Amino acid sequence: MLVSATEMLQKAKAGQYAVGQFNINNLEWTKAVLLTAQENNSPVILGVSEGAGKYMGGYETVVGMVNGLLKGLNITVPVALHLDHGSYDHCYKCIEAGFSSVMFDGSHYPIAENVEKTKELVAASHAKGISIEAEVGSIGGEEDGVIGAGECADPQECKEIADLGIDFLAAGIGNIHGKYPENWKGLSFETLDAIQKLTGDMPLVLHGGTGIPADMIKKAIALGVAKINVNTECQLSFAAATRKYIEEGKDLQGKGFDPRKLLGPGFEAIKATVKEKMELFGSVNKA
Ligand code: 13P
Repeated sequence: MLVSATEMLQKAKAGQYAVGQFNINNLEWTKAVLLTAQENNSPVILGVSEGAGKYMGGYETVVGMVNGLLKGLNITVPVALHLDHGSYDHCYKCIEAGFSSVMFDGSHYPIAENVEKTKELVAASHAKGISIEAEVGSIGGEEDGVIGAGECADPQECKEIADLGIDFLAAGIGNIHGKYPENWKGLSFETLDAIQKLTGDMPLVLHGGTGIPADMIKKAIALGVAKINVNTECQLSFAAATRKYIEEGKDLQGKGFDPRKLLGPGFEAIKATVKEKMELFGSVNKA
């Protein structure tokens, strides 16, 4: 059964480790993440972006697939199904569809509007026992081939949003989605420290987990980060393993073209990436 992410993240914050959010794209992705969590006795959050939700045929399909896998694969570790960077409308869609957690990304609104909308969505999600993440300070990344720098959130604004009753808070601290550029300045621990001082026990979320060096991840966890989002890194390992299989001509040998064989190495590669992150984040045996 899906659970909200509140309890697992409160435990993570208190125990100084982080739970990984791994974004899913299809059945293989979902199975790979769930099996790795079970094998490592780790709590896990499945992230679904609006685009991935559409790709998989809509939120009902995602909920049906995930619930089916929890049962069919005997998954007993805590699993949350979470909308990643949701718009106001899509948060409602996911609350209705059976997600156990949503993120409302109102970071592009003026702060007063972000506050209003977040407040309303806190009430709607909590009425159904669903956890809710909000964001302050937009997280950069590649858009139309241009890599935007990650913003640093204003700690006072973080406090204002944290006080609305949300369950965990994403704050920009110089992190971006996708690969980091050569000249990236690193995470702003000064900002993170200031945010944690004002928001206290609130579990903090680090987006853009791909490519952040291990020492920075450890320091971020020590400063209150309890959830780390990883997406691109699983895509890169899946693509590299699939490329290798085809370049070695394996799809042309015997029944190597069978999708259950063709997608096998990519599936194993996702599992290896997820395991490595769970070990780094310290969530192994924390289920
Ligand atoms: P990466 O793709 O950089 O790992 O970021 C994932 C993320 O933050 C999803 O919200």
